[in-house]
Amino acid sequence: MIGCQRSLFSIPSDVVYLNTAYMSPLMNSVVDAINYGAKLKASPWDLTINDFFENSESARTLFANLVNVNSKNIALVPSASYGLETAAKNLKVGSGRSVVMLENQFPSHVYPWQRLVNETGGKLIKVKEKKDRNLTELVLEFINEQCAIVAVPNVLWTNGLMLDLPSISLRCKEVGAALVLDLTQSVGAVNTDLEKIDPDFAVVAAYKWMMSPYSTGYLYVSEKHWNGEPLEGNWISRRDGKNFSNLVNYTDQYEDGAVRFDMGERANFALLPGSIEALKQLHKWGIKNIEKTLQQNNSTLSDQLRSLGFVIPSDADRGPHFIGAIQPKNSPKDLMKILASNKIYLSERGGVLRITPNVWNNHEDYQKFLTTVSAVL
Ligand SMILES: Cc1ncc(COP(=O)(O)O)c(C=O)c1O
Repeated sequence: MIGCQRSLFSIPSDVVYLNTAYMSPLMNSVVDAINYGAKLKASPWDLTINDFFENSESARTLFANLVNVNSKNIALVPSASYGLETAAKNLKVGSGRSVVMLENQFPSHVYPWQRLVNETGGKLIKVKEKKDRNLTELVLEFINEQCAIVAVPNVLWTNGLMLDLPSISLRCKEVGAALVLDLTQSVGAVNTDLEKIDPDFAVVAAYKWMMSPYSTGYLYVSEKHWNGEPLEGNWISRRDGKNFSNLVNYTDQYEDGAVRFDMGERANFALLPGSIEALKQLHKWGIKNIEKTLQQNNSTLSDQLRSLGFVIPSDADRGPHFIGAIQPKNSPKDLMKILASNKIYLSERGGVLRITPNVWNNHEDYQKFLTTVSAVL
């Protein structure tokens, strides 16, 4: 268990922030690193060619270690949508075939697949939740020989229901379907072994559970796609990109691995130092320790909320870091407003309250949240 880490953040003592699923706050050390990085651009005469490469490689390696893969598998991307569009650009569906996904998935993991079936034929299958049925089993029922792509998250962003990705991956391999994952709502809080899951592509937008700056993210690309098409005609990812004076000798050759999928201007001088600082702290805590801490705190909180009448999936069915709670019938319609007026922040998606605390929360936060909710029921 990790003790409360609030002192690493600047969260006022009366703020109860239970909203990692929306956006994490930044640690003070991350803000300092971003400030340092921003100043680099203020004096470009001090920049060296290595400044275009070293921080990118550090972030790539730190992230790769976090998800147990080689840094060659990782591209630097600005958003989940960028990474998922890259995946869609390199896969096909075709008539009579399908893309299997969840109903109510985050739009960045829907629009690229919608476009792909419009262009190449085929259809989207959106697997619906069913009462008393395990979501993984429901997804597995649709993965058959007609399935070209399985495009799913690890936990559903609206309610935290969790999929068993190793089982889904195994089934994809049996039927020859590609597996594309959006892990934005889990990596950073849930131990994730991408070597074991072995997807085709997996993306993480890093501003939530990775506690990193906005507009930063990572794309895992399996070796079988390393010759694929990037989204952009980027120059820095090409062979000999370090030789700035030779860039007009254009080349079709890229650096090895997933680097070809890097976004343009990946060497964001301001943000990358912040990303690196956040990654270092996640490693220091250890993802397994973060997961265990959040799991225990959330398990207690779920029980307390259930006793107030909230309906929450069983601990086995939901992400350990993520509570999706349906409000009791006697709950006021403006509960979110009441909570916000008490400086208690969480979010609501599709009629479900998302309660996603993290290592900055302390005992007083949980007490204030429970007391405020009990008082209005
Ligand atoms: C599951 C999931 N994926 C991705 C994102 C962010 O997507 P993007 O980086 O394309 O804005 C969110 C944001 O809420 C999300 O919940």
